[in-house]
Amino acid sequence: MAKQEDQFKKVLSHAKEYGYVFQSSEIYDGLSAVYDYAQNGVELKKNIRDYWWKAMVQMHENIVGIDASILMHPTTWKASGHVDAFNDPLIDNKDSKKRYRADVLVEDYCLKIEGKIDKEVKKAAKRFGDDFNKEEFLATNGRVLGYQEKIDTILSRLGKSLENEDLADVKLLIEELEIADPLTGSKNWTDVKQFNLMFGTKLGASADTAMDLYLRPETAQGIFVNFLNVQKTGRMKIPFGIAQTGKAFRNEIVARQFIFRMREFEQMEMQFFVKPGTQKEWYDQWKETRLKWHLSLEMGADNYRFHDHEKLAHYADAAADIEFKFPFGFKELEGIHSRTDFDLKAHEEFSGKKLQYFDHEENKNYVPYVVETSIGLDRMFLAVFSNSLQDEELENGTTRTVLKLPAVLAPIKAAILPLVKKDGLPEIARKIVEDLKWDFNVSYDEKDAVGRRYRRQDANGTPFCITVDHDTIENNTVTIRHRDTMEQKRVAISELSAIIKQEVDVRSWLMKM
Ligand code: GAP
Repeated sequence: MAKQEDQFKKVLSHAKEYGYVFQSSEIYDGLSAVYDYAQNGVELKKNIRDYWWKAMVQMHENIVGIDASILMHPTTWKASGHVDAFNDPLIDNKDSKKRYRADVLVEDYCLKIEGKIDKEVKKAAKRFGDDFNKEEFLATNGRVLGYQEKIDTILSRLGKSLENEDLADVKLLIEELEIADPLTGSKNWTDVKQFNLMFGTKLGASADTAMDLYLRPETAQGIFVNFLNVQKTGRMKIPFGIAQTGKAFRNEIVARQFIFRMREFEQMEMQFFVKPGTQKEWYDQWKETRLKWHLSLEMGADNYRFHDHEKLAHYADAAADIEFKFPFGFKELEGIHSRTDFDLKAHEEFSGKKLQYFDHEENKNYVPYVVETSIGLDRMFLAVFSNSLQDEELENGTTRTVLKLPAVLAPIKAAILPLVKKDGLPEIARKIVEDLKWDFNVSYDEKDAVGRRYRRQDANGTPFCITVDHDTIENNTVTIRHRDTMEQKRVAISELSAIIKQEVDVRSWLMKM
C-alpha cells in the first residue's frame, strides 16, 4: 500500500516537474479537482485524442464525428434523467464538517477488509513457497472466506439500499460498521442526502428572464439530440456510429486521485445505432474492439480487466467497464453500455419530435438501440502516464527515471542535440530541426553535458535523441539514441525521418489491433 502511494506521489510530482499537468489557478492555492495541461501534457492529451479519433472515426466508414455544444436546452437533462437521477448519496460529519460520499465510505471499509485478505495471501505464499496455489487458498482458507463473505454481505446491502433509495439504511450501515471520518475519527454523522452532480449556470443578461442551464455532465446527449440530423444529412445506414470528444462537468463530492476524478474533464464517446434485437451482438463486438485498442498501445495485457455490471442503470440492458491497474489499484477507465432505445425515446417524448429511422430492408420505422463506448480522456492520460513512469537500475549501478510513453503518443518525438555549442554544430542541428518539424514535433537542446540531456529527454518521454558531433561535419551522419534501449546508432541525416516514422506512425500502432 505504502509502495503504491509512493509511486502515485512520484507520478504527481513528475507530471508537474516535466510540464505535463499543473493544479488550476495554483497561485491562488488551486481549485479542488480542477487541473491544467501544460506544454507537454497538452501534446500527450492531443495525441491520445487523435489516436482514439483515428481508430473510431477515420478507420470506420460507418462512424462520423460531431462537436456539439457544452450548453444544451435544459429539457435535454430532464429527458435524459440527469435532473432527477444524476445523484450521489452524501453524508456530512457534524464535528469535522467534512462531506463524504456515503457509498465510498462503505466501499473504502470493504477495501480495508480486502487488504486483510491480501495479507493472508502474502503470509501463506511465504509459508508454502513454490507449492503455493493462490486460487486454491482463496477458495478454501477459512479466514479468507469469512472476510469475503463479510464484503459480499455489506456490498449487497449497500447496493439494495441505494437501488431502493433507502438512505436511512445507508446511514444505519455506516453506524453499524462503526465507520469513522477518515480525517478525524469522529463517528458523529448527519443523515444521508442525495446530491445532484450537475453544475448549473444561467443564459441571458437580466436576472428575471435568464434561463437556468446546466453544463453538460456527459457528451452523449449532444449525440442523441443530433441523431436524426446526422443520419439524414450523412445518409447513414444502420448500423452506424456518431463519435465526439469534449468537455463534461460533474460536481463530484469526492474528487481525489489527481486527474482520475475531476470536476471538469474530457470524454471520448461513441454512440452506435443498431437494429433492435441486435444490440447484444454489437455490445460484445464493441467490448472486444475497445480492449484491442487499449492493447495496441502495449501497456501490458495484465493491466486490463473487464468488470461486468450486475446492477444496471435504468437505461441499460448490459454494461461493462474496462478497468486499468492505476497506481492505486484496478479502476474504471472506460465504459461500454448497451443503452437500449431509452435516450432516443425519452427525447422523442420530451421534444414531441420523431427520432426514428426508416429501414428500407425491413420497410418500417423504428427507434434504434444504442451501444455506447465512453472513455475519459484524462483518465486515459493518467493510465498512460503512470504506467510509463519507471525508475530503471542501470548496469553501472546508477538509476535513471524514464517515461516510456508509447512512441506514438509521446509529446516530442525527437530531441536534436549539438554535442557542443560551437564549431558549427548548433547550425547543423538547427537545420535538422527545420527539416524534421514538418512531420514531427521535435525540440532543440544544447544546455548541459550530453549525458544530462539524455537523462532529461528520458524523463520527458522523448523516444529519440539525435546528436550532432564533429564527424557530422565530415560525413553527414549523426548518432541516434533510442530512449527505451539506450542503444546508439550512427545513421545518415537523410535516414532520420524514415527511422522516426517507423516508430511513431499511427498506422503501425493501430495495425496491432
Ligand atoms: N455517457 C456515459 C457516461 O458518461 P460514465 O461511466 O459516467 O458514463 C464515462 O463516464 C467515462 O468518463 C468513465 O469511464 C471515466 O473514464 C470518465 N469519467 C467519468 N467521470 C469522471 C470524472 N469525474 N473525472 C474524470 N473522468 C471521468
